[in-house]
Amino acid sequence: TYVVTENCIRCKFTDCVEVCPVDCFYAGENFLVINPDECIDCGVCEPECPAEAIFPDSDDRATPWAELNAKYAAVWPNITRKIDAPADAEEWKDKPGKKDLLSP
Ligand code: SF4
Ligand code: F3S
Repeated sequence: TYVVTENCIRCKFTDCVEVCPVDCFYAGENFLVINPDECIDCGVCEPECPAEAIFPDSDDRATPWAELNAKYAAVWPNITRKIDAPADAEEWKDKPGKKDLLSP
């Protein structure tokens, strides 16, 4: 499966959802997750993310986020169309320490 990681927080560009062939993204207030049971590992979302927040679960950068993706995919609503990013999304891009800002 592929995994959404820290740099998505408060960026939420949603380019990823437009390309997913199985619509397996789920949206929280300021973060998106991938449902690991639905992702078919096609990899097309990874290069689409302007924040480079998506990694395959074989990548060490995905490991701390895999459980959170599974957890929130079970409770957040499905998202299949791109929506406007937050007005300050560019300012949050690549900022460190965003993990504590995730809205559950
Ligand atoms: Fe969707 Fe493919 Fe990305 Fe999985 S790897 S979330 S199936 S676009
Ligand atoms: Fe997040 Fe990147 Fe998608 S910022 S919403 S994973 S395009």
